[in-house]
Amino acid sequence: MKTDELRQKYLDFYVSKGHKLCASDVLVPKWDKTVLFTPAGMNPFKDHFLGNVELEFTRATSCQKCLRTGDIENVGRTAYHHTFFEMLGNFSFGDYFKRDAINWAWEFLTEKKWLGIDPDKLTVTVYLDDDEAAGIWESDIKLPVERIERLDEYENFWPAGAPSDGPDGVCGPCSEIFYHPRGIGKGGDVEIWNLVFTQYNRSGNPPDNLSPLPSKNIDTGMGLERAAATLQGVDTNFHIDTLRPVVEAAAEITRIKYDPDSDTGRFLRRITDHVRACTFAIHENVYPGSTKAEYVIRRLLRRCTLEGKQLGRSEPFLYELVPAVVTAMSNPYPELGQSLERIQNVIKTEENRFLEKLDEGLVRIDKLFVETTNSMINGADAFDLYQTYGIPPELIESLGVDRKFEFDWDGFKEAQDQHAIDSGKGDKAVMGDFGPIDQIKKEAKSTSFVGYDTTQSVAKVVGLVCDDVRKDSLDANGVEQLMVLDQTPFYAESKRPKM
Ligand code: SER
Repeated sequence: MKTDELRQKYLDFYVSKGHKLCASDVLVPKWDKTVLFTPAGMNPFKDHFLGNVELEFTRATSCQKCLRTGDIENVGRTAYHHTFFEMLGNFSFGDYFKRDAINWAWEFLTEKKWLGIDPDKLTVTVYLDDDEAAGIWESDIKLPVERIERLDEYENFWPAGAPSDGPDGVCGPCSEIFYHPRGIGKGGDVEIWNLVFTQYNRSGNPPDNLSPLPSKNIDTGMGLERAAATLQGVDTNFHIDTLRPVVEAAAEITRIKYDPDSDTGRFLRRITDHVRACTFAIHENVYPGSTKAEYVIRRLLRRCTLEGKQLGRSEPFLYELVPAVVTAMSNPYPELGQSLERIQNVIKTEENRFLEKLDEGLVRIDKLFVETTNSMINGADAFDLYQTYGIPPELIESLGVDRKFEFDWDGFKEAQDQHAIDSGKGDKAVMGDFGPIDQIKKEAKSTSFVGYDTTQSVAKVVGLVCDDVRKDSLDANGVEQLMVLDQTPFYAESKRPKM
């Protein structure tokens, strides 16, 4: 079954069960300050789960564009990790709960009319004390007890480990469905669907940190690429019909023969993933930059450029892969085509900018590694490499992993903070960004800090910035508004951008 067909079938199935079909939210949800990228299908519905919005519908289904960076090192190395991926989901806001969620998931997976997967190749897991879910799998679905495994909060709670470790927010026990392509117990099993029973709001540390939500909810997530790989009988997501052509195009552009099991095979899969992620982000006007989501995009591109360089590519080449991505994704996302040229230009510019100094940078990285005698990469030197050549510290860290080096993040941060103090600039400027705040600073000099003497002061507004653009007045429709004052009792803190 083609990936496009699977996506459509899923949405059709849940529409047939009375769900409202919702279009994917953006990949970079500027409205949500708690995330850089949409990490899961449920993200656009957080307020629905919390009861913060008046509900116009109580059941929804979507195919959501997502991006996760937590497992970035695994991308290309394993069969199933991505940064960008699509997630199929069905959601209930105080409507149906575990029984329907489980029964419908099973119907969709096993009925001939839908996916028609052999039920004997499926097993499930539930949270330790979730007798209700285990009971439904046993009584309604007739799954033998030995095919229902009970696991702890790190496996069967979403977010994983939420009760003990957080984050705060909506959460609940989950039940995962596993597919065993060669039969149960014969290896190669893969999780294909996560049914989350979102019933708590977490606040603070245990005990007593989980309070029941106003109503019980359902949030399920099926990674589209992974499910497609299962149905297409291929052993990695990168070989499904919407990704394999991009991998092949990458091979052609780099003039490397695609050998799935080789180091270069991993490299080709990684650039496929990263260029796809950047294509979607840049389409949404998130350009490579020095903070937040922009920094993630820079890091993805620079990582591929750096590896390309090590394979002998000294000219920009990543931008040439964008047409293959746009073609592969054109059915669900035809709008990408309109941005093709712009996306290519942005990527090419970033490649050029990085390549300019990369030769020198690589010599310095080698030197740094030779000088690393205690298996800890010097953080201050790494900061210097970042400052001078734009080599993101995470890249130095990951190159070091191959040599079993650790990375001195404390030292890096110390050097970064010291630089901020020396240059009298905030975090953004340290990362080489000369945005509107720096402009205001040039005109208005530094804000004086009066907090050692007083906690109140009268101040003059010297600049306004709305969503990263200099303005003369605040904008009622803006998401992030910044006001620069001539003096303030508020103490400024600086942080390393969170990845
Ligand atoms: N939120 C859950 C996940 O991302 C289920 O959709 O796995």
